[in-house]
Order: sequence, then C-alpha cells, then structure tokens
Amino acid sequence: MTRETWKTRAGFILAAVGSAVGLGNVWRFPWMTAQNGGSAFLLLYLAIVLLVGVPGLLGAFVIGRRSKRNPVGALRSLSDGSRWWAAFGMFAVVTTLLLVSFYSVVGGWFVRYTAASVTGSYFGHAGAYFSAINYGPAALAFAFVFLAATAAIVYAGVEKGIERATKVMMPAIVVLLAALAAWTFTRDGAGAGLDFYLTPDVAYLRAHFFDILPAAVGQALFTLSLGTGTMITYASYLGDERSLAADAATIAVLNTAIGVLAGLLVFPLLFSFGLDVGSGGAGAVFVSVASAFASLGTVGRLLGVVFFAVVLLAALSSSISMLEIPVAYLVDEHGVSRAKATAGVACLVAIGAAACALSSSVFGLLANTLVNLLMTAGLCGFLLFVGWVLGSRALDEYRAGAGDVARAVDGPWLLFVGVLIPVFLLFTLFTSVASALGVPLGTHVLGVGLGGSAVALVAAIVVTALAVAGLRRPGSLV
Ligand code: PHE
Repeated sequence: MTRETWKTRAGFILAAVGSAVGLGNVWRFPWMTAQNGGSAFLLLYLAIVLLVGVPGLLGAFVIGRRSKRNPVGALRSLSDGSRWWAAFGMFAVVTTLLLVSFYSVVGGWFVRYTAASVTGSYFGHAGAYFSAINYGPAALAFAFVFLAATAAIVYAGVEKGIERATKVMMPAIVVLLAALAAWTFTRDGAGAGLDFYLTPDVAYLRAHFFDILPAAVGQALFTLSLGTGTMITYASYLGDERSLAADAATIAVLNTAIGVLAGLLVFPLLFSFGLDVGSGGAGAVFVSVASAFASLGTVGRLLGVVFFAVVLLAALSSSISMLEIPVAYLVDEHGVSRAKATAGVACLVAIGAAACALSSSVFGLLANTLVNLLMTAGLCGFLLFVGWVLGSRALDEYRAGAGDVARAVDGPWLLFVGVLIPVFLLFTLFTSVASALGVPLGTHVLGVGLGGSAVALVAAIVVTALAVAGLRRPGSLV
C-alpha cells in the first residue's frame, strides 16, 4: 500500500497550522500569561518560540519525513531497531493520550459556551457561571461530546477529515479575534490591559525568571504541538520536494500571531470590565469574552455563538492531531484497523477525560505542570535523536527541497538542535522539578543545575551513541 501524502503544500501547512492553532492559543496562552506576569511572560515566550520552537519544529519535520512513520516506528526504524528509542517514542504516544484527556474537557467547555450563547445564560455573572460549569458530571458529558467529534474525524482519515476542517477555521478565527480586539480597544480601561500585556516589565522578568521559564517553555511547545510526535506524524505524509525550513517558519509565525491576537483581546477586556487578571485562572478567556458579549445584548449572543463555535473548530483540528498519534501507531505498527484503533484509543482517553472533568486538581496537574514537563522532556529527546542518531542524515533531509537561505544555516541548525536546545531544555526541566519540590533556586543551586544539565547531556549522548554503535556508525554532528 502506498502511503497517503498531502495533495498540496497548502494542505500540509493548513493541517499543521490547524494542529498548532487551538485552545493553546485562545485558552491556555491568556491563562499562562495572566498567571506569570503579563508582558514579562510574553517576552520570554516569544524568544523561546523563535529560538527553540522554529528549529525544534524543523527537527520534528526531519524525523517525520525521513521515516514516513508515527513517532514509535520513526525512532525505531531510524535508529536501526533500537528498543530504547522505540520506548521513547511510546513516551510521546502516552503523552498525547494525557493531553487529549484534559483537552477534551476544555473542548467541552467551548461546546457548552457555544450552546449557552444562544440564550445568553452566562450574561451578567461571567465568573460565577464559569465556576459552576467547569467540573462535574455535566462537564464530563460535554467533554464526551467533544471527544466523540474528534474520534469521528480521525476515523474518517487523514486527508478528508483534517484538510477540510482547517481551511474554514483559519481565516475565520483571525477575522473574529481581530475584529473583537479592535472593538475592545475603544473601551475605557483597555489601555491598562494593553500595558499589562505589552509594556516590557524587565524588573518582573528578572525577579521571577525561574518561575516563568518552565511555563514559557511549556506554552511555546504546547502551542506549536511540539514534543509529542504530532508534527513528526504530520510531516510523515510529506513529499520530498518541500522546504521544511520554510514550512516551519510559516507555521510558527501564523500560530504565534493568533496567540498574540488572543491576548490583545483578553487583557484589555479583563481590565476594562474591572476583572482581576489573575482570578480567572483557567477561565480567563471565558470570563473576559463573556463580559464583552453580555454588554452587547442580542448582538452579543450572535457573536458568542460564532466566536465559541469557531474556536471549537480550531480546537477540533488540534485534538484530531493528538488522537491521530496513538491511532497511527496502532495502525502502522500493529496492523490494527483504523476503526478499531480509533475506538480503542477514544475509550482510553474517555477515562482520562473523566478524571480531569471530575477533579479540578487532576485537571490542574495535567493541564499545567505536566504539560510543561512532558513536552519539554519530549522535545529534548527528539532533538537529541536528530543531532546524535541522525546526524548527517538529518542534514540531508533538511537540505532536500530547502532554499538558499535555509541551506546556508544547515550546520548551525544541527548544532542548535543537537546541543544548545537540549542543554537549555534539560536546564528548564531541572528548574521546574526544583520549584515543584520547593527547592529555592539560589546561585549555588543554579550552579549545580547547570553542572547537572551538562552531565545529563553527556550521559544522554553516550547512551545514544552506544545504542547505535554496534549497528552502525553514529551520524556526525556537522
Ligand atoms: N497546539 C495545540 C493547541 O495549541 C495543542 C496540541 C499539543 C496539539 C500537542 C497537538 C499536540 O491547542
């Protein structure tokens, strides 16, 4: 059987952007930004998208297109059968299962808000409404609706299901966010929101750097769908004539623009309606736009339906890209039929979704701390693989279809993904574990962290090299 490929360049870009653009931009980004100091977070986040996200995305594309497989099969075949790397691919598959679990709950909130906009039930008491509906049996029912829709699209197959949905959603979401943000700017108090969001707060950044860092890294990776194998799997359907670098840059720019746009809507709204920025927590986007729609009366209801429905579409094009990973794994590696694989995976996710919908602490642990940790660890492993197992083969893949500019930076790119970014990610992991355990990050602790990261990096390199040494000469770095 020949493997499906994307029909057009736009088809792949749209689907990859569809995966990237989702609740991460519209729901999680405002939450994380509000919780981590506004503009200080934005600054760090943008830097990470540029320096880690774009090269990292390229790394994932290289693995995917080279192997034409799901993450487990990709790492196994490219390392000539290493069980360790296959196990690491499994880690990514499990990560996606956890992600879709809480993602379905948030998707369920959007389903509920779409319906509630028709009658305007949340008008007038935005905060109380969100707290009343966010967890519990009803939240679970809505999460199941979202999960069922996701499974139905995944079952329909890569091209039919995914390409179509994304083509409608992308332009609609940009127009809606931009129009609503423009309306928001005319309101009293909007300026303070913009100030919180955009005026660089270097003092805050300096004082809280190590608290913000894991969140900023986690958010950058989450929003770009990096570290879970999603982008590996999507790129596995890609033809050889495409410039991976150009695609990575396009996707990162579009995705980041939409997140930044969502912030331009949420923060002026929160301030102009006198809502406390921090208090919304995971409900920041709901509480803010609910207040806006309420103040617009009947027009607000209509806008509410359109807004929540469009975000829902964006959320679906992301959730299908998560569910696709375990499904592709079962289909490719175990010969399970697509229908059976989809049904089985959906049942597993339903259990996770139930835990998240019924317990705010399970939800918080997964959606916040665990996302940051798992995605950081995931990308770190994938990039070590690119640098140290693929080596020169990664460069060949990178060069195929690349333009002059991309070719000019191929060596530095490999050095980035093979060495600098993994060191940075290991360091980030260290700081997050330290702060999760309540260890204060004084200078000597940081020194130990840096030293530890270096040792861990060397160990990872040695293990990787040993894993492939017996089978074949490991790829060289540059
Ligand atoms: N990037 C998606 C979003 O922002 C979430 C996602 C993460 C999708 C990982 C796939 C894999 O909503």
